[in-house]
Amino acid sequence: PLVTTKDMLEDAYKNNYAIGAFGAHNLEVIKAVIAGAEKVGAPVILQTTSSTYKYVEMPYLIALAKTAAEQAKVPVALHLDHGESYHTVMECLRAGYTSVMIDGSSLPYEENILLVKKVVEAASAVNVPVEAELGTIGGVEDSVSVKEENAFFTDPKQAEHFVKVTGIHSFAPAFGTAHGKYQQKPKLLFELLQEIHSSTNIPLVMHGASGVPEEDVRESLKYGIAKVNFSTELKDLFAEELRAYFNDHPTENDPRKYFLPARESLIKLVEQKIVMLQK
Ligand code: 13P
Ligand code: ZN
Ligand code: NA
Repeated sequence: PLVTTKDMLEDAYKNNYAIGAFGAHNLEVIKAVIAGAEKVGAPVILQTTSSTYKYVEMPYLIALAKTAAEQAKVPVALHLDHGESYHTVMECLRAGYTSVMIDGSSLPYEENILLVKKVVEAASAVNVPVEAELGTIGGVEDSVSVKEENAFFTDPKQAEHFVKVTGIHSFAPAFGTAHGKYQQKPKLLFELLQEIHSSTNIPLVMHGASGVPEEDVRESLKYGIAKVNFSTELKDLFAEELRAYFNDHPTENDPRKYFLPARESLIKLVEQKIVMLQK
């Protein structure tokens, strides 16, 4: 069934595990994410940026996600990832997303607060929970690109104020993760995360989880991380499988054949990631 992220994140937060949130770019990925979650029997979040719903086109995306969620044996939420404006959030609420992120992290603090408050007010009216970010998570995510030297960590005191005045339901702190690939092994600031955890008291979201070692992801579950976002590893694997397939079958032209190994590998990856997030 299609549900919001509210109950799943609260349960995960209370019980020190996390929900996997996966970048869903097309039909093949959506089906693989659901199949992986069903193998574990865990709730799952399909998430898209606005570039994805522009690419797939909103009515198609909604039909795919709703159908997938209705067929699924596990709860499924459809979440807007890194929503860049009030306008984008409204489009998603109207279309039927069950969870949204508003990303005002590049704005001055007071402007970020005003934007997030406005989004929370609108989304709450239709019972859709809101995720927001403070600090700057490095790396590249679709249209958002932040150079490492411009990334800065979340201040726990400011986070406390931000969460209190905006009324958001989940919070994405910057504590050392980055979107995309890591140049070196990432250094996560667990003490900072712990402080943010105790000053905010709401489910926390790890962005940029592709490339984060398993032990670091698991460690973060102790400090309030209840949603973990994966995108790059899925894209890499899907593309690698397609390249390998065409390398071995240079004349194959049937999409019903050449997508299959990519889909199968993706199911395994999603399953493995979700298992890693279990208690
Ligand atoms: P990765 O691409 O590093 O997995 O980050 C995903 C993400 O945070 C989406 O919001
Ligand atoms: Zn992100
Ligand atoms: Na990453």
